[in-house]
Amino acid sequence: MPEWLNALPKAELHLHLEGSLEPELLFALAERNQIALPWADVETLRAAYAFNNLQEFLDLYYAGANVLRTEQDFYDLTWAYLQRCKAQNVIHVEPFFDPQTHTDRGIPFEVVLRGIQQALLDGEKQLGISHGLILSFLRHLPEEEAFKTLEQAMPFRDAFIGVGLDSSEKGFPPRLFERVFAKARSEGLHAVAHAGEEGPPEYIWEALDLLKIKRIDHGVRAIEDERLMQRIIDEQIPLTVCPLSNIKLCVFEHMGQHNILEMLERGVKVTVNSDDPAYFGGYVGENFAALHEHLGMTEAQAKRLAQNSLDARLA
Ligand code: HPA
Ligand code: ZN
Repeated sequence: MPEWLNALPKAELHLHLEGSLEPELLFALAERNQIALPWADVETLRAAYAFNNLQEFLDLYYAGANVLRTEQDFYDLTWAYLQRCKAQNVIHVEPFFDPQTHTDRGIPFEVVLRGIQQALLDGEKQLGISHGLILSFLRHLPEEEAFKTLEQAMPFRDAFIGVGLDSSEKGFPPRLFERVFAKARSEGLHAVAHAGEEGPPEYIWEALDLLKIKRIDHGVRAIEDERLMQRIIDEQIPLTVCPLSNIKLCVFEHMGQHNILEMLERGVKVTVNSDDPAYFGGYVGENFAALHEHLGMTEAQAKRLAQNSLDARLA
């Protein structure tokens, strides 16, 4: 990665902590927790990271998360991510975590939260990285389950800045979560949501109008709807775009086809993020480097993208 890219101060606003679980740590945690894995070794697991769509990735991502059991596991996961951030001059993070992925396996909400929170606090003190944690609901599960998760989270209200919506997009439109998002907002939480990754522009409209989101996660399919483009430009609604993720999950065929710089030049407040770096081939820095290499991103464009990420912070 060019040094000038690495040196740019950046914020990461779209990162699933469970998606930062590198195969080496996954195997180490499996051993520590005496869990048998379906993969022979790290290389076999890495070789399985070939996906045709979002769902194929999610199946492996949820399987991988099974090694996370103790508060220390969640601490180690988060700490490893923050060290990557430090190395790439990521000075602020607003990561997601998926409580339901863990509580549905019998891991107490508090265990998950305490481990993540302690690492974030240590990251602030020892690495100088500021943060705002976002609790994400799994949209393939019913809204009722999201309500239960929000209820479990409320004793720890101060540990979060907002709620998000992730997992399988197609067939699970934002409108299904209108009431739980209203409840979260009434508690003073910010709202964000994945929309327009695989799903159509209508899902972005719903996320804006019904969930009243402050940022759109992904949102690359907004470009198919001119009226929507005008709105996100006029209102300067940030998009947390994840270029390497989009290629790995076949949202675009090649990086050369990615629309992030076209959006930037049209005045959309786009940002660069890694989504699930352990699975998609890199952290924020590698995502910037891919735009430089395949789309000819200039230094001036990189600076605007990095500044956008700082401007689009919620914390
Ligand atoms: N999309 C939807 N859900 C997710 C993703 C994603 O890219 N990563 C982790 N959960
Ligand atoms: Zn995501």
